[in-house]
Amino acid sequence: MERGKNEMAGLGEIPVSALIRSAMDARKKAYAPYSNYMVGAAVLTNELRIYTGCNIENAAYTPSICAERTAVSKAVSEGKRSFKAIAVVGSPKGELITQYAFPCGVCRQVLREFADPERFFVIVAKNEADYRIYLLKELLPESFGPENLY
Ligand code: THU
Repeated sequence: MERGKNEMAGLGEIPVSALIRSAMDARKKAYAPYSNYMVGAAVLTNELRIYTGCNIENAAYTPSICAERTAVSKAVSEGKRSFKAIAVVGSPKGELITQYAFPCGVCRQVLREFADPERFFVIVAKNEADYRIYLLKELLPESFGPENLY
């Protein structure tokens, strides 16, 4: 997708390094004994507060929750419902992050509930210096959201 300069205009106010660091820290808490795939996420609210989350797996498998949804759940349950950005750090167990971990389809839809897809930034990072930034609309085009219902 072509990106205009204007589309990335809000990026200046996003504390990218702090978000990535927070996601890397949260990844250390991942409970992933079944997949051994560790994920951390850090979501930035409109008030510029950061909420973190990690993936939490379960012996029955299906109750497992992704890092992104843990972070969003923590923020929403504290009364925050508008978000500007999320950083995600994920990789098989170990210190070294070997890949960019993109949010799964379910997490993209959950982010869509609380974010403007034209303005919300998704940062996938290997470390503070090695990351990519997308708009949510690039990862979830032609999306369905709350406005569709009224
Ligand atoms: N996982 C996340 O936490 N976020 C994603 O967007 C992709 C997948 C977790 C779920 C599961 O605990 C592990 O990674 C392997 O799928």
